[in-house]
Amino acid sequence: MGRRNKNRKNNTNPFAQRKRDRKNEAENGTKIDRRSEPYVEILRENEFFFKFYKSQKIVPEEEWEIFVKTLQSSLPTAFRVTGCRGESETLLDIIKSEYFTDYLKQAAEEGEKTVEKPFALPWYPGELAWQLQLSRKDIRRSEVFYKLHNFLIAETNAGGISRQETVSMIPPIVLDVKPHHRVLDMCAAPGSKTAQLIEALHADMEEKRELPTGFVIANDIDNSRCYMLVHQAKRLNSPCFLVTNEDSERFPDLQCTNKETGKVENMQFDRILCDVPCSGDATLRKNPDIWTKWNPAHGTNLNAVQFRITKRGAELLAVGGRLVYSTCSFNPVENEAVIVRLLKESEGALELIDASDLVPGLKFSPGLKKWQLSSKDMNFYGEFSEVPEKYHTVLRPQMFPPEDVDKYNLERCMRILPHHQDTGGFFVAVLAKTRPVPWQKNLQAKESSPAVAAAPQRKKRRLGGYKEEPFVFFQGDEDIFSSIKSFYSLRDDFIPTCLLTRCFTGKKKNIYFSSDSIRDIVLLSGDCVKIINTGVKVFVRCDNKNMSCAFRLAQEGLPSVNEFVGADRRLLLEKSDLVTLLHNIDPTKPPKIEELSDVTKERIASVTPGSCILEYREEKLQLTLVGWRGTTSLRAYIDQNETVHMLRLLRADVSKYEVNKFKKVEDQVESEEIQEELGNQENQEDAAGDDKVEPELVEKDEGEE
Ligand SMILES: C[S@@+](CC[C@H](N)C(=O)[O-])C[C@H]1O[C@@H](n2cnc3c(N)ncnc32)[C@H](O)[C@@H]1O
Repeated sequence: MGRRNKNRKNNTNPFAQRKRDRKNEAENGTKIDRRSEPYVEILRENEFFFKFYKSQKIVPEEEWEIFVKTLQSSLPTAFRVTGCRGESETLLDIIKSEYFTDYLKQAAEEGEKTVEKPFALPWYPGELAWQLQLSRKDIRRSEVFYKLHNFLIAETNAGGISRQETVSMIPPIVLDVKPHHRVLDMCAAPGSKTAQLIEALHADMEEKRELPTGFVIANDIDNSRCYMLVHQAKRLNSPCFLVTNEDSERFPDLQCTNKETGKVENMQFDRILCDVPCSGDATLRKNPDIWTKWNPAHGTNLNAVQFRITKRGAELLAVGGRLVYSTCSFNPVENEAVIVRLLKESEGALELIDASDLVPGLKFSPGLKKWQLSSKDMNFYGEFSEVPEKYHTVLRPQMFPPEDVDKYNLERCMRILPHHQDTGGFFVAVLAKTRPVPWQKNLQAKESSPAVAAAPQRKKRRLGGYKEEPFVFFQGDEDIFSSIKSFYSLRDDFIPTCLLTRCFTGKKKNIYFSSDSIRDIVLLSGDCVKIINTGVKVFVRCDNKNMSCAFRLAQEGLPSVNEFVGADRRLLLEKSDLVTLLHNIDPTKPPKIEELSDVTKERIASVTPGSCILEYREEKLQLTLVGWRGTTSLRAYIDQNETVHMLRLLRADVSKYEVNKFKKVEDQVESEEIQEELGNQENQEDAAGDDKVEPELVEKDEGEE
């Protein structure tokens, strides 16, 4: 655990202190140089925390020691191979056969002591999620793991994997999302679970070459955190996704068209995730600063907001739908207390379900039926009648276990403890709705006809930093669309009204695509909900004289339009040619057509200059990318992250992207030594009256840089 500062009092929070120092510095206009200050390791202890949880009995007596010991250690790294890409199987093969083997071999050679084999999480479908018995810090700080580290960063950027804490993968799995589901993620940012929900929505649809009929709406109250959601989802290229910025306690009634009746009605969701704000004390392994500031009031203070968000979720849930409540807190007042109050107030409309069959092999403790509340001064109360009056506004009657607690099946909740399988902690409850909840409002939408609602929305500026550009859907008769349709020979069943831009007037730069259901929501509800983002970029303006259409294809939207593009804008490539293209993505030096294989040259002849789709197929793997067919050259039109990802899938050489930062530092030190040596020589030679520098040494130094 490193060096401990035994003298530092536990209640002095170094992070808060640093914040105070920075504030003072900003006010005084001074900046303290802290580089020479020793690194202070956080003391991973908190007597209040220990006393509180011992008395709650969340851990059996005999497991207490191992529970605490595990909490005090660093968290292993975990990641998922993202599921909605056809390439995941190939990537998984490569990870297992190359990266894991390589790092185990190297670690053994270099005598790294504690290297254990990575293992697939037994309860995650398709062996796609892995845990490495190494913390992020271990991977970052040791040269032995630099290839693995590079791989994790590059594939995260390309969307091939998602680095996510093991336990945080559980809620989306037990939510059990299918492609036709209308999904709401109420507290979504930064969005690792949202990404999983989107992947589940698209699962299987890639093979069927269809878009899901359902969608995911990801919401967060924090405007800036909403952009984290946009960033997360961007890698998944889903047109069935919408980001909103609302207080979930009052999430507005969205409107949608009932496909069967054609009538407009209030939206009910099939799946809702309430991953509510919480004290986060189950993330102590990842966030050790919580040790320094933990007290029971953090949990108690959050109970009301957690309840109100979930209560609104229950209202928005369709009968027959499923709601998952989760926190990364151990505290019963943030968990069982919220759930049991909701069940009680729902008068049987909601029930807890046992979802353990969806996570086979996952170890967890059943929910508690008995818990206590504690005041800030650590006095414990088993029921409200024991609470002194001065605490009556803080410790509320509904936070205690009700008398009829047994009838609510709280044992069906899952509390994952860190020592169960060397992870962080988590709490998950899965609720089913059997009939409307008693507080449910009328489901009838206000009088409105689809025709009226489908008019483009005006750009709105509201309080609270809402500055988004409008979402302007095509009417279907735009000249731009006719030229795109004819250049790309788009199939007739492509729906032009699902295309949108972000401006009413002026030259359109980017054209986006959203699914039919998302379009319906934006048009009907755009005025009552703060929409932050939707749509994937499918076409980008490029006024190139060699192309008769003003728009090129965009890689991120390719999966959405690929099916519809005609054969005359497609080019099947040989593997060697694709590798050549990927090794030469510099737009100023595109590969010459004459340098490509004869078979590719022959196929190119039937594709006129301009934007096109490049395809590659082998038994398991199919790659599709945007290309540019020039008059004498051919190039791949993708960014570096995607390039490395594809090269890796093709098992081609990616060594030029493998930067060994340790080697770089060594080289730098070596180079500094050389410079120093040169300086000495110069001094000596200066002293001797000759200012010439050894050319060989200088060249070598420059080359290495
Ligand atoms: C535990 S985090 C969610 C983590 C996220 N689900 C994930 O997997 O990345 C809780 C989030 O709830 C948001 N939040 C807090 N109060 C909210 C409210 N009343 N309505 C909507 N979001 C809220 C916070 O901004 C925060 O981003």
